[in-house]
Amino acid sequence: MTFDHDLKASVRTIPDYPKPGIMFRDITTLLADARAFRRAVDELVNPWAGNKIDKVAGMEARGFIIGGAVAHQLSAGFVPIRKKGKLPHTTVRIAYSLEYGIDEMEMHVDAIQPGERVILVDDLIATGGTAEGAVKLLRQIGANVVAACFIVDLPELGGAAKLRAMDIPVRTLMTFD
Ligand code: PRP
Ligand code: HPA
Repeated sequence: MTFDHDLKASVRTIPDYPKPGIMFRDITTLLADARAFRRAVDELVNPWAGNKIDKVAGMEARGFIIGGAVAHQLSAGFVPIRKKGKLPHTTVRIAYSLEYGIDEMEMHVDAIQPGERVILVDDLIATGGTAEGAVKLLRQIGANVVAACFIVDLPELGGAAKLRAMDIPVRTLMTFD
């Protein structure tokens, strides 16, 4: 993991959002800072420069922003993993756990060909429920998930460890307690 103090300073913390006691790590301030946004994307793609990546998969909604930029940088395609009911063609769907409750996510069944090399991208990993669900969906359609990367890791919530236990290398740029 790269620990970058300047980049970390561009993430804003909102106390008591969305509920009392939660310290919400808000990446909109990083996205609005042109140098920080570029740097974050550059750091996320670094390990794969020169490696063939077929597709980047990003989770709705903030994973679309980061994942689109990462896909462009890697000259890879982008595949959206969406909350249920948003995709028009035939999908695969999975229930996943959130911090408070469960939801369902889905992707187009033909978005990735079996064996294609895929990187999963999101802004933040907390409990890992979202990323775990995404990896299961990707593997269900035969994708080779070569890594997952996130700008922010909240390690106390165990998400990165959960993905590593699924044999997914995880790259994150900063941690918050
Ligand atoms: C946030 C974040 C990740 C997920 C991380 O998205 O962008 O996708 O939660 O939490 P987890 O590791 O505990 O699963 P959210 O579900 O709030 O959706 P949004 O991007 O549409 O706001
Ligand atoms: N910030 C943004 N998204 C989140 C957080 C957070 O602190 N925790 C879970 N999802």
